This record gives sequence, structure tokens and C-alpha cells, in this order.
Amino acid sequence: MGRRVWITGASAGIGRAVAERLARDGDTVHVSARREDELDALATTVPGRLIPAPLDVTDHDAVQATVARIEERDGPLDLVILNAGTHQPVEAKDFSAADLRKLVELNVMGTASCLEAVMPRMIDRRAGHIAVVASVAGYRGLPTSAYYGATKAALINMVESLRFDLDEAGVRIQIINPGFVETPLTDKNDFAMPFIISTEKAADYIARGLNGSSFEIVFPKRFAAIMKNARLMPYRLYFPAIHKMTGK
Ligand SMILES: NC(=O)c1ccc[n+]([C@@H]2O[C@H](COP(=O)([O-])OP(=O)(O)OC[C@H]3O[C@@H](n4cnc5c(N)ncnc54)[C@H](OP(=O)(O)O)[C@@H]3O)[C@@H](O)[C@H]2O)c1
Repeated sequence: MGRRVWITGASAGIGRAVAERLARDGDTVHVSARREDELDALATTVPGRLIPAPLDVTDHDAVQATVARIEERDGPLDLVILNAGTHQPVEAKDFSAADLRKLVELNVMGTASCLEAVMPRMIDRRAGHIAVVASVAGYRGLPTSAYYGATKAALINMVESLRFDLDEAGVRIQIINPGFVETPLTDKNDFAMPFIISTEKAADYIARGLNGSSFEIVFPKRFAAIMKNARLMPYRLYFPAIHKMTGK
């Protein structure tokens, strides 16, 4: 432990729980999100180890400035967890390119701005560790997930692609694919969420996965196994199976 860490989307949900967990374990964690009051409240939970860095990740210039400021203040970041993101369900009759663009701006382009800010610094140092939060919803198309699933599939592919160069450059990259976790994001869902876990349990999986050797951190294990199996199914089996599970 004792790493210098930066986590985006740390004012709530999974990001907040991971930030607190890592700080308690001995890391110094710079926490970013838009709501400064929530970051200040989080900082009081492990005094001196959680440092607010308020930021809207869709503001490209602000992302670059924030990373520069953190590293000037505290030195090189050892670990960066790009977690800021949201979900917006959509049915085909309501599909709107403008709504999709908003989700792409946050989930994909926000993450891309952060990657642009941290990767060259880590590559120059031939050191560092990046973890990007996508979702098992990025594996395959799911009902009402045309926006969200598309953004998360993009992140999974992006991270897989970057891994080749980063491996050569001595920089580690991982993908984090959670199943359902109880957060303000999933509180909005009015359907059954199989194998849903608490943010503390999710933080536990993530903290252990970051110290492990796997490229992918995916949890909870039984739901992950179902989703991985679904990823391998031919369409003639996949669509009926999802219909049976969800009624869609
Ligand atoms: N919960 C699940 O079941 C689940 C499953 C799979 C994947 N995930 C992924 O896990 C990540 C966290 O999800 P969550 O469930 O913890 O969501 P959440 O409770 O809604 O938290 C989202 C976090 O992102 C921040 N955020 C939103 N827009 C931002 C922006 N423009 N700039 C900076 N920060 C921003 C929010 O803070 P502010 O509002 O203060 O900015 C908040 O801290 C997301 O990428 C999500 O897709 C979640």
C-alpha cells in the first residue's frame, strides 16, 4: 500500500466505496467528481488520506489541469481508477442520438480525456497502473441497454486495444466489469437485479483484483459466470435465453 491513487466518480456509489477502502488500507487517494460537498464529506472519513479534486470529466481541459495539479502537489500517480459514468435506459421508440451523445460524452469521452492525461506521463516513467470501470453489460446487447451497453462495450474494446502498447511500455491496465451493485445508479431500476451486492463488497472485489494478476476484474462470481457464458452463445440461443430471463 502507500500508493498515490486517483479515482474519478468518487462522490457516490462504487467509486466512493473503493476510495474509502484504499485510503483505509494506507493509500493516498485523490478523489474526483462534480459534487464538492460530497467529496469534502468523504475526506473526513479517513483524514489526510482522501484529497478532494473536484472535476467534471467531460471538461477535457479541466481533466488535463487536474492531473497536472495532483502530480505537482503529490508526485507521480501509481494507480488511476477511471470510474465516473452513468446509465440511461432506453426503449427503441424513444431512441435519440442526442441522448446517446450525452452518455458517450461521459462514459466514453470522459474516460478518454482521463486516459489522454495519465497515459503519456506513465509511459514516460515506464511505471503506473490504470483500471477502467466498464460493465458486464458491455459484453452483449441487453434490453433497454442500447446506449449504456454501447458505451461500456466501447470501453472494454478500448482497454483491450491499449493493453498491447502499455504492456510494452511497462504500464499496467485492467478492465473492471461489475455486475449489479447497490448504488444511486441502480436505485433507479424497477426490475429484479440478480446477485446484486453492496458497494463495500464491490470495493472488496476491486481492491483484491487490483492487487491480483488478472486483466479483468469481474464480479460477483456467479453472475459473471452467467454473463460470460451468454457471451459465447450463438444468437439463436442468446436472444431466447435473454427473453426468458427478462421477459423482453
Ligand atoms: N452500480 C452498478 O450496478 C454498476 C454495474 C456495472 C458498472 N457500473 C459502473 O460503475 C461506475 C460507477 O457506478 P455507480 O453505480 O457507483 O454510479 P453512481 O452511484 O451514480 O456514481 C457515479 C459517480 O460518477 C460521478 N460522475 C457523474 N458524472 C460525472 C462527471 N461528468 N464528472 C465527474 N464525475 C461524474 C458521480 O459524481 P457527481 O454527480 O458528484 O459528479 C458519482 O460519483 C459507472 O461507470 C457505472 O457504469 C455500475
